[in-house]
Amino acid sequence: MQVIKSVSKLQEIRKNIQGNIGFVPTMGNLHLGHVSLIKQSLQENEVTIISIFINQTQFDKKDDFINYPVTIKDDIALLENLGVNYLFMPEYQEIYPDDYQFQIANYSQYSHVMEGKFRKNHFVGMLTIVMKLLLLIKANRAYFGEKDFQQLQLIKEMVGAFFIDTQIIACETIKDKNGLALSSRNNRLTEMQLNQAAIFPNLLRSDKNNEEVMEELKKSGFMVDYVEIYDNRRFGAVKIGNVRLIDNVSYNK
Ligand code: PAF
Repeated sequence: MQVIKSVSKLQEIRKNIQGNIGFVPTMGNLHLGHVSLIKQSLQENEVTIISIFINQTQFDKKDDFINYPVTIKDDIALLENLGVNYLFMPEYQEIYPDDYQFQIANYSQYSHVMEGKFRKNHFVGMLTIVMKLLLLIKANRAYFGEKDFQQLQLIKEMVGAFFIDTQIIACETIKDKNGLALSSRNNRLTEMQLNQAAIFPNLLRSDKNNEEVMEELKKSGFMVDYVEIYDNRRFGAVKIGNVRLIDNVSYNK
C-alpha cells in the first residue's frame, strides 16, 4: 500500500490509475464497520483508496476533536492486510490551503434538523471535506455507512447538485454482539457502559412512541438529544457520560 501525504502526489498518481476506483473516506481509528466498507470497495473495484483525516472543521466541540482516538499504526497495518492500494493522509494545511475560507453551505431538508440542529456547523465542515476528497480522488464509487444516515443523504444530494461523477454507495450499519452500531466513539465506553448502550438501538426499534422511548432512555441513565421519525426511519442521539452515540432504524409503523 502506498501512503500519500500531499495533494500534488495524489493528483500525479491519480492521473496514472487504470480501472475503476473505490474510495472510503475515514477519520481513522478503523473498526469492523470501516472494514466492511473497505471489503465492499475491494470487491467492486480494481483500485481502492482510503483516506484518513480527522477533519477538525466538522467538530462542533473542541474537546471532541482533541479526544478523537488516533491509532495510525494499527490502521495502516489493517489496511495493508486488507490489500488496500492507496492511503491518502493529508495534514490540515495540505487539504485546507484556503484555511477553510470556502465552505459548502447547505439548506436541504436534512441540513438543520437532528444532527444539523444539535451539532452546529457539523454538516458544513463534513460536506466541505467530502467535496474536496471527491474532487481529488474522482472515484467511480464512494462508500458510506448508514449509521450516519443524515450525512449519507446530504452527500448524495451534494453529489447530485454539483454533478460529481462518483456513485455514492450506502452500506448497512455493522453492529456489535449487543446490537450497538459500531463507532470509533464506542472505544471510549467502559464494559458496563457498552452493555447499557445496547438498550438504545433496541428502544429505537420498539413499538413505543418517541416520547416513551425518550422517557425509557432517560430512566436508563442516558442523556437524550433527540428521538425523531423522518422519512420512515427513527433517528436518535444520546449521551452516556461524555460519549455521544447516534443511530437510526427503518420505521414503518
Ligand atoms: O463519517 C466520517 O467518518 C466522516 O464524517 C467523513 C465522511 C470521513 C468526513 O470527514
